[in-house]
Amino acid sequence: MSKHKVTKIGVLTSGGDSPGMNAAIRAVVRTGIYHGLEVFGIRRGYSGMIDNDIFLMDSKSVANIIQRGGTILKTARSDEFRTPEGRAIAYKNLKRLGIDGLVIIGGDGSFKGAQTFSNEYDIPCIGLPGTIDKDIAGSDVTIGFDTAVNTAVEAIDKIRDTMDAHDRLFIVEVMGRDAGYIALHSGIATGAENIIIPETKTDIEELIANLTEKEKRKKLVNLIVVAEGGQFGDANELAKIVKGRLPNADVRVCILGHIQRGGSPTCEDRLIASHMGYYAVESLLIGRHNVMVGVINNKIHYTPLNHAVKQKQTIGQEWMKIVKILAS
Ligand code: F6P
Repeated sequence: MSKHKVTKIGVLTSGGDSPGMNAAIRAVVRTGIYHGLEVFGIRRGYSGMIDNDIFLMDSKSVANIIQRGGTILKTARSDEFRTPEGRAIAYKNLKRLGIDGLVIIGGDGSFKGAQTFSNEYDIPCIGLPGTIDKDIAGSDVTIGFDTAVNTAVEAIDKIRDTMDAHDRLFIVEVMGRDAGYIALHSGIATGAENIIIPETKTDIEELIANLTEKEKRKKLVNLIVVAEGGQFGDANELAKIVKGRLPNADVRVCILGHIQRGGSPTCEDRLIASHMGYYAVESLLIGRHNVMVGVINNKIHYTPLNHAVKQKQTIGQEWMKIVKILAS
């Protein structure tokens, strides 16, 4: 717990944006105002702290944003904040405005920055996990994952219509950086014949044997959902390998890309963002510092920021078995 009694807090979004960040900002601003705090918005993440792009927010400034993707505060990845000089300027700017607590909505890189800053300057920081990748230790959910995975499912369903019409083999690449959650969830939900994720080594011979066997029994429609950042490079590289080994297959590639980051957040993402945003402010008020607000087993859970690092998922082998059985 911190010795500070906060009176003025800053809120920022940092790293890749994710749908639901606006809902979290709204919750932080309105909970802060409810408790009589002054709430400052910081634009473009840590860059805005250094550039002094900081403004007082009121209840109206977060009106009509809960349903909007992106982030009204904008976001960035700041190299300058990684330097002691950059952080010193940031601190001076906060100090001048009297800001004595921060809420950081972002991923593990943003939390590392917050932890370092807080160690140096004793400003309590509360993190909220905002990333479509769902790869943060200390929370079962992250703000934006549900929307991203539903966007992927909607897109893949459309691809299935056309691949089915043409008897094609489609390789669809989804985001996740080096985590396979989006691929696993969207692949299962769209009945993918194969799912390739970085956490599990894929035996290319087994994959080719599986596709060859399907070709022999005239099952030509095959969907492979592959996570970016995997063992084969991008989806085009994988397509080259498959085409080389199955010359008769009509192979197409679709890389879904940034459409997964945009769009109106789902109900689930709006709820978790509102819940976490509320608890971020409550946490600052009771003197918590340097923790991430997460949800584990449907309950709010606090994790020290330095433990809220990137987490690799452990894929239950049972799921992989189910995928194979259901796609046979
Ligand atoms: O971390 C979110 C994410 O969308 C990853 O899934 C992806 O690898 C990366 O960000 C893309 O980053 P950028 O928008 O900088 O290209």
